[in-house]
Amino acid sequence: VQSERESLFIVNNFARDYFQNILKNHIDGRSIGMAYFRNRGFRDDIIEKFQLGYCTDSHDAFSKEALQKGYKKEYLVKTGLCYETDDHRLRDRFWGRVIFPVHTLSGKVVAFGGRVLASATKGIKVKYVNSPESEIYHKSNELYGIYFAKQAIVKQDRCFLVEGYTDVISMHQSGIENVVASSGTALTPGQIRMIHRFTNNMTVLYDGDAAGIKASIRGIDMLLEEGMNIKVCLLPDGDDPDSFARKHNSTEFQAFISEHETDFIRFKTNLLLEDAGKDPIKRAELIGNLVQSISIIPEAIVRDVYIKECAQLLHVEDKLLVSEVAKRRETQA
Ligand code: CTP
Ligand code: MN
Ligand code: MN
Ligand code: MN
Ligand code: MN
Repeated sequence: VQSERESLFIVNNFARDYFQNILKNHIDGRSIGMAYFRNRGFRDDIIEKFQLGYCTDSHDAFSKEALQKGYKKEYLVKTGLCYETDDHRLRDRFWGRVIFPVHTLSGKVVAFGGRVLASATKGIKVKYVNSPESEIYHKSNELYGIYFAKQAIVKQDRCFLVEGYTDVISMHQSGIENVVASSGTALTPGQIRMIHRFTNNMTVLYDGDAAGIKASIRGIDMLLEEGMNIKVCLLPDGDDPDSFARKHNSTEFQAFISEHETDFIRFKTNLLLEDAGKDPIKRAELIGNLVQSISIIPEAIVRDVYIKECAQLLHVEDKLLVSEVAKRRETQA
């Protein structure tokens, strides 16, 4: 017999094929969904590779087709592809949206993201709707793009971390394939461990807005704890990797990264310094904050390198930071 997990995967595969087929062959799929992707500059081979799709705005075309093909209501609801109305009818969760399937490390479809079309973004619909958690989908354990990125991550011995679906896709299109997305939320330990299986080196490439900067700092302490080498590259304000990739070719993109990526301690120190100015209380807080970050790094040699760099940036004695870090480590142990 089929387990519930298997049944959910089967339903997701059906949905993935259905949405792909609508995008490529249905009149609305071609004139609305495909037009949307082409407008964004996505090439056909990339649309195919990421198995992008479209769900028409009929509200229940997918539900009807799935039921008619014999897929059980229970699984359609459990995968979140459909939801039940008060009068017990099924409705499509993703109606009127372009579809981004989310793949596991081994390429199975565990979830979907659906984006409203440009013309609808000013309306009341939220920009992205995502599959709910289910027996097969635990958002905090998945990384968008990992299936398509893993080989390149090993080959380059580096992983780029971006915020969103379209960032991953556009970077692939411009030839940078070692990239995954945290899908707008802070990175989790499970996601970090997944990346760590393939490389020690991570470059965080978040949107160049305030939210992006904040999110990059939040993710960093966890990466340190895992013993990874972290660099941060902020894009110009207002850009994300997708918009940047559309304005620059891959050579320019790579050049921008190598020119602007800084190691995490320099990045965080400079950011905090800007914030603190000359205020002595804020500066003391800042030192505490950096000491905390450094103290969770597992390897002593790496801690030492960061202590030296940090002391220089802050114009304090190494010794001071050494003893502060030691104190923190004692209380953590
Ligand atoms: N996200 C989400 N739900 C939202 C907004 C964002 O799940 N309501 C996730 C999506 O995975 C999205 C990522 O956070 O890709 C980054 O969000 P944002 O930068 O706002 O979107 P973009 O990926 O840049 O999408 P687009 O370029 O299409 O506007
Ligand atoms: Mn390691
Ligand atoms: Mn953003
Ligand atoms: Mn973005
Ligand atoms: Mn974007």
